Amino acid sequence: MGDHYEVSEKGAGALAIPSLRWEEPPEGPVLVLLDQTRLPAEEVELVCTDVPALVQAIRTLAVRGAPLLGIAGAYGVALAAARGFDVEEAVEALSQARPTAVNLAYGVRRAAAAYRAAAADGAGAQAAAAALAEARAVHAEDIEASTRMAEHGLALLGELLPGGGHRILTHCNTGALVSGGEGTALAVALAAHRAGELRRLWVDETRPLLQGARLTAYEASRAGMAYTVLSDGAAGSLFAGGEVDAVLIGADRIAADGSVANKVGSYPLAVLARYHHVPFVVVAPTSTVDLDTAEGADIEVEQRPAQEVTEFSLPSAQGAGAGPGAGIPVAPLGAQAYNPAFDVTPPELVTAIVTEAGVVSPVTSERLAEVCSTSRWS
Ligand code: MRU
Repeated sequence: MGDHYEVSEKGAGALAIPSLRWEEPPEGPVLVLLDQTRLPAEEVELVCTDVPALVQAIRTLAVRGAPLLGIAGAYGVALAAARGFDVEEAVEALSQARPTAVNLAYGVRRAAAAYRAAAADGAGAQAAAAALAEARAVHAEDIEASTRMAEHGLALLGELLPGGGHRILTHCNTGALVSGGEGTALAVALAAHRAGELRRLWVDETRPLLQGARLTAYEASRAGMAYTVLSDGAAGSLFAGGEVDAVLIGADRIAADGSVANKVGSYPLAVLARYHHVPFVVVAPTSTVDLDTAEGADIEVEQRPAQEVTEFSLPSAQGAGAGPGAGIPVAPLGAQAYNPAFDVTPPELVTAIVTEAGVVSPVTSERLAEVCSTSRWS
């Protein structure tokens, strides 16, 4: 592996390969995924012909990020239906593949409902077609939501930071890689970049799986943004030096009280932002809001394998079949590890939640419910 990866310049913000697509070759339908564990070194696709392959891709983070998990889950149900697999078994396996991002269960539920409704009064082929149509709808809605969030988010940045020349800090990866469109938080940063308003994108590397250093930097580079990667622990000194104007992050689940579950390391940023009087803005579609989860403490946080912390390796080496010993040990043999994939930020630390249906600010359960009720998909 070289010191730096070359990233080819294509259209500003566009991925070389879409993060996910449905195809129907003569051998039967497939779901094609851009394998995110291999980025930025290689743009390689994974072809899923069955649900276990897709579940594995979800668990290993080959496909990841809340909105994309919703789209993948919906297409997974369509895949099971189209290929004649047990759809209810697929629904179960897909919904449980990862627990925190509510979009996964949301996408699965929508495609499954369409399938069941058609299966109740039609032939299997019609039910499969209904599941696929619903998956395509989930996908299309995400593209539209992404555009709306970028518009609302850009307007909000203008209000919060009237001087322009924003220096934005982001965590994890929230761009086109996690979406049918341009994503959530990174879509707002991209809109600011296109408007000539982005001075710098600070990219947290996002330990331990490096979604920031590998994926956000990949997207920022393709888009020609001025970006700098930092280790997660370096964010504090950036705030202290007055170098951060706003934090923009995504979300995996937002509880009814406005608590935000997002990639581990988000909560410390919210605390830093509050201390330094910097806006902390969450960008997420209303499909990420889970009004059935009352508060943050009720959100199930995924715990990941210890070796992601006790060993050093790139996610591409941590995929199928990888286990302890797959990477270079960085902790004593037998060291215990605390490796939650997400943390939860309480609503009082969140300046605003930007959705496709509008901005929630201040973040209260009433205002969140109101904005969700005006969503086209509520
Ligand atoms: O574990 P990951 O990579 O799936 O986690 C993704 C995140 O935490 C993102 O910030 C979140 O899904 C929002 S993406 C729009």
